Amino acid sequence: MKTKIRANWSHAVLVCRKCSKKLTKKDLGFGPDDKPLAKALRAELGAGKTRKAAVGVIEVPCLDICPKRGVVVIDSRRPEEWRILSPDAPFDTEVETLR
Ligand code: FES
Repeated sequence: MKTKIRANWSHAVLVCRKCSKKLTKKDLGFGPDDKPLAKALRAELGAGKTRKAAVGVIEVPCLDICPKRGVVVIDSRRPEEWRILSPDAPFDTEVETLR
């Protein structure tokens, strides 16, 4: 049995699924098409869920921060610094910090 599996990810971005769902219910989203955050990030970063993507963008369960108007995100390169991405902030700027 293999114990190591090679992946192309340079880093992973964890996105709270529940935060995203709450914004979707309010008709709020990210990027030019107001998509859920994980989908918008995958499109902008050329990222994906599979190990062949350059960056992993993975939705995770609630992280117990639960902002009223934003999505909690963790960049695996800076796990000590959790962020809240707001649909009101410029998406391009937010994406650059996760690239
Ligand atoms: S709903 Fe996203 S942190 Fe709780």
